[in-house]
Amino acid sequence: MINNVDIVVGAAWGDEGKGKVTHYLASKKRQNGKPYYNFVARWNGGSNAGHTIYHEGRKFATHIVPSGVFHGITSVIGPGCVVNLDAFYKEVNELKEGGIDVSLIKIHPNAHIVTNEHIEQDKAKLATQLGTTSQGIAPAYRDKYARIGLLAKNSDIDKSYLLDGNLYGNILCEGAQGIWLDINYGNYPYVTSSECLPYAACSLGFSPKAIKNIYGVAKIYDTRSGEDPDFPASLLQNPDLLAIADVGKEYGVTTGRRRKVNWLNLDKLIQACNISGVTHLIINKCDILKEVNKYKLYYGGTLKHFTNLSEMIRYIESVFRVGCGSVQQVMFSFSPEIVESL
Ligand code: IMP
Ligand code: MG
Repeated sequence: MINNVDIVVGAAWGDEGKGKVTHYLASKKRQNGKPYYNFVARWNGGSNAGHTIYHEGRKFATHIVPSGVFHGITSVIGPGCVVNLDAFYKEVNELKEGGIDVSLIKIHPNAHIVTNEHIEQDKAKLATQLGTTSQGIAPAYRDKYARIGLLAKNSDIDKSYLLDGNLYGNILCEGAQGIWLDINYGNYPYVTSSECLPYAACSLGFSPKAIKNIYGVAKIYDTRSGEDPDFPASLLQNPDLLAIADVGKEYGVTTGRRRKVNWLNLDKLIQACNISGVTHLIINKCDILKEVNKYKLYYGGTLKHFTNLSEMIRYIESVFRVGCGSVQQVMFSFSPEIVESL
């Protein structure tokens, strides 16, 4: 039986720090000391994601494996995901070398396989046209929806990695990418090929009624990896935005590419929270603006300037108090530490 479902979702264009939030939430314990969550599960995407996780003083970069493994929680790659087995085994081996129990990693039998041919096709065309991550994502989903794809259960995967049975108990769902990369809501075709919004988490096998908290994650400035006319190349000429990129280390975990940075678009963030029903909003990397000592955001289509961080934070809080029904709490986080009140 399903008890509570909580969801972590990217409220922007990915790279918001979902990994940090998921890792923190997954550490929650019951009174008997056991983990609160029975499962941590991914519902969308593949190795295009890149989570940087700091666990017990060590740095891990995960792409497909959900963050529950760091807390001894069974971590499931759901039926809506696509998996390249070479990339999967490489990641599993890195985690194993880091002392993580990889027997906790399970792939749903109906997840689709990303073949090497998919990756070749992505590299040959889409990577240059759309700035994809070259992980074969679009070709794999294309074949899934054309109903000619290869299911994990029919592949030559080591069968001990296949999920046996259904999810139960408390589930933490770990989103990949972000709302503005969603196939239905993003700036098509500058999107990814899966559903990044919380509605799609139900594909893991629970009712929408089981969802309790939706943790939306954003940053205090916007970033975009990959092509998108909404993030023109001219952004790379703005010295303040370049300084934020440098201090904030805005380079892709998966691709190593420099991300384009822009001032926070508060209109988009409110819209993101409204369409996804975010209950708790975490705004990361506030310290980066402080270091660069520039405080700006777009709201109502105009650029607003602030003299310091607390003024900017107070402004965001006041806008959320009136602008967004589902959000109960807005939290501001300073990397690398996480808000303790989650
Ligand atoms: P794809 O998912 O590799 O097909 O890439 C499609 C678009 O989504 C490109 O603009 C990528 O840069 C972007 N994208 C995909 N995954 C991520 C992610 O995890 N973080 C940020 N951007 C991503
Ligand atoms: Mg990322």
